[in-house]
Amino acid sequence: MQSSFLSRPSPLLSLLLLLLLPLRSGWAQAPTGTTLWGSPGGPDCPEACACIPGGQANCSALALPAVPAGLSRRVRALLLDHNRVCALPPGAFAGAGALLFLDLRENGLRSVHGRAFWGLGALQWLDLSANQLEALAPGTFVPLRALRSLSLASNRLAQLEPATLGALPLLRALSLQDNALSALAPGLLDGLPALDALRLRGNPWTCGCALRPLCTWLRRHPRPESEAKTLLCVSPRRQTLSPLTAFSDAAFRHCVQPLAARDLAVIYAVGPVSFLASLATCLALGSVLTACRARRRRHRTLMRRSPRKAPEPEGPPSTDPGSPAAAVARV
Ligand SMILES: *[C@@H]1O[C@H](CO)[C@@H](O)[C@H](O)[C@H]1NC(C)=O
Repeated sequence: MQSSFLSRPSPLLSLLLLLLLPLRSGWAQAPTGTTLWGSPGGPDCPEACACIPGGQANCSALALPAVPAGLSRRVRALLLDHNRVCALPPGAFAGAGALLFLDLRENGLRSVHGRAFWGLGALQWLDLSANQLEALAPGTFVPLRALRSLSLASNRLAQLEPATLGALPLLRALSLQDNALSALAPGLLDGLPALDALRLRGNPWTCGCALRPLCTWLRRHPRPESEAKTLLCVSPRRQTLSPLTAFSDAAFRHCVQPLAARDLAVIYAVGPVSFLASLATCLALGSVLTACRARRRRHRTLMRRSPRKAPEPEGPPSTDPGSPAAAVARV
């Protein structure tokens, strides 16, 4: 599946080719001379792939079930599209530290380990489109500090957390089109200061408060009318088919601002403390009340008992049948 994101002639790609060109001459004069790079299975060419000078390893459409072994720092572009790599394990590209370009389109990829891309600090272009990704682990793209273009188009992503992307200071193009996204998590776009091409169409956007950061971003990065028209809400019902770009900041006035970290910290600190304080107050009040009540009761019983007990000694003589007086009366 060739999306417009890929077929569009990109200045990025030209830059990449420029970067690769100077390598050609260098590689032609490899110290050992002859076919270091170029023959399938050559010492520096990944298994089963076709390599050309310039550092391109072409492993397209070979039904490969995994990333080929034998990746070295000589590989600058790795074409792994149209294979059967359905999972990327930790350190899947270990050894390819100089990789600039990685194409993983159409692999039926379902899982990408959070450390799969470790060691790819030079990577500039990553295409994961047309796979079956439903979720991505936190930290997945964090090592890719040099990344300029990332495509996650035509997957099944229902959400994308800021921790997955992290801060990608050079990322200019991000494609999320044709996924299952209903909103972008708050903070996702904050880590992408260089972003200017964001492809979003083909997602079931829910036009509620959660869409505020995205609408703000879209207002600051106006798109051509034709493209803006393709970003539509699918819910709630009264907003169905409203274009995302139609929402001004005023439309979100009723939304409660999310709490800042400091506010949250205060709430978390004040919450338990006030709970304990009120518990202690209740206990203290309760025991004071109980003590008061007990004292009053004791006092009342004392008052009730004392007038009955006091006259006893000088009361009328006892008429107990067993007493000597009764015996006298009986006689
Ligand atoms: C990679 O190889 C395949 C066939 O093996 C070919 O069709 C394709 O054009 C090559 N890709 C590039 C960019 O050279």
